[in-house]
Amino acid sequence: MATVAIEGMQWGDEGKGKVTDYFASRAEIVVRSQGGNNAGHSIEHAGKRYALRLLPSGILNPNVTNVLADGMVINPIALLDEIKGMKAQGIPCENFIISKRASVLLPYHVELDHVREAALGKAKIGTTGRGIGPCYEDKAQRTGLRMGDLLEPEYLRERLESALAIKNIELAAFGGKTFTVEEIMDSLKEAMDFLKPYIVDTSVFLRKALKENKKVLFEGAQGALLCTTHGTYPYVTSSSPLATAIPNNTGLPLNAVEDVVGIMKAYSTRVGEGPFPTELDGEIAKNIRDKGHEYGTVTKRPRRVGWLDIPQLNYVAGISGIKHVCLMLLDVLDVVDDIYICTKYLIDGKEIDYIPSTVSELAKVTPEYISLPSWKEDISHMTSYDALPEKCKAYIAKIEELTGLEICMVSVGPDKDATIIRKEMF
Ligand code: IMP
Repeated sequence: MATVAIEGMQWGDEGKGKVTDYFASRAEIVVRSQGGNNAGHSIEHAGKRYALRLLPSGILNPNVTNVLADGMVINPIALLDEIKGMKAQGIPCENFIISKRASVLLPYHVELDHVREAALGKAKIGTTGRGIGPCYEDKAQRTGLRMGDLLEPEYLRERLESALAIKNIELAAFGGKTFTVEEIMDSLKEAMDFLKPYIVDTSVFLRKALKENKKVLFEGAQGALLCTTHGTYPYVTSSSPLATAIPNNTGLPLNAVEDVVGIMKAYSTRVGEGPFPTELDGEIAKNIRDKGHEYGTVTKRPRRVGWLDIPQLNYVAGISGIKHVCLMLLDVLDVVDDIYICTKYLIDGKEIDYIPSTVSELAKVTPEYISLPSWKEDISHMTSYDALPEKCKAYIAKIEELTGLEICMVSVGPDKDATIIRKEMF
């Protein structure tokens, strides 16, 4: 396989960072194609822990070219901070390029995100507060700025003037902070000067790389159920985390992605508001959350926790064409006595064979569960499938049976070595 995409199959935070880092060691190019610093990958690499937000995970490997591609929304100031942080940790951080077509996320997007969430009150989305939605809105409204504009300061100033003429009215109406062109230009200066040499036409680079049969990894951010179109709308992000969106977000043809590897946790989590049919509360949720360190990388919010949801996983596999998956955080489930798996969705006692497309219909769903006993022992040191306890293997086999997916990798701890490979995928 020369090209592979990684896709989170739940609501994000499935452990994509670890898999991406593993695959990145074999890739020549790692591409991030959508979202912005709402994403947060934690990676354990050479005994150290790194939190990545905008930089693709191949940044830790000096032989990899990392691409921040066309569909991303990039806060230049946050990117510069992230790079400075990585440099301070000894990572040279020179092996990346940024698309001229990527959107620029500016301080007024962040401010708008906050004032709008506050105005929504109980109906808030629970965003990461990083300005992602307002920035994508500007892109669609054609008042957005693009990274290539940073190379032409006069044009950038003109674009900012027209954008602010609209944004300031909206901000003032919400009682938020308004901005001047000078203020934004000044805040961008250092980041602009630093990032300029890295801003290129990344789609030209990527098309050439594909012609040369380079090994390309398309890393995922967020999860399928946060897709603006196919997720639990309106409690979603503002772009599509689906691998099917990659061609459009990178300037590559449809066949550019040869395989899609799905990443799923051994249970479910979500942050922010929105429906979550298998959600748990009380002691079990707390124990899973604590053992799985289920607190947001970006916002530190405690994640909501629930059982594995097979109808939802089958839906995502269907819309994404996923056949191979990595099962993450399996070790966490030794903190419970019995593990539940939702196998069906019922409405009014009848099984449904689709995922409801509205939040109100999803609220009517009653999950039907089966249960399996947990293995109740530490598996984090186990490096082969055969070494796993029988009850653990039974859980893996049950997931494969219920989804028809092949579990190729099992993660039993955050460390790189705490990984069981059943089949190489890249
Ligand atoms: P936004 O992307 O900041 O607008 O947030 C919209 C929704 O997506 C919220 O529920 C966030 O918690 C969620 N979200 C955004 N990015 C991530 C992520 O990387 N992991 C998990 N949830 C995310």
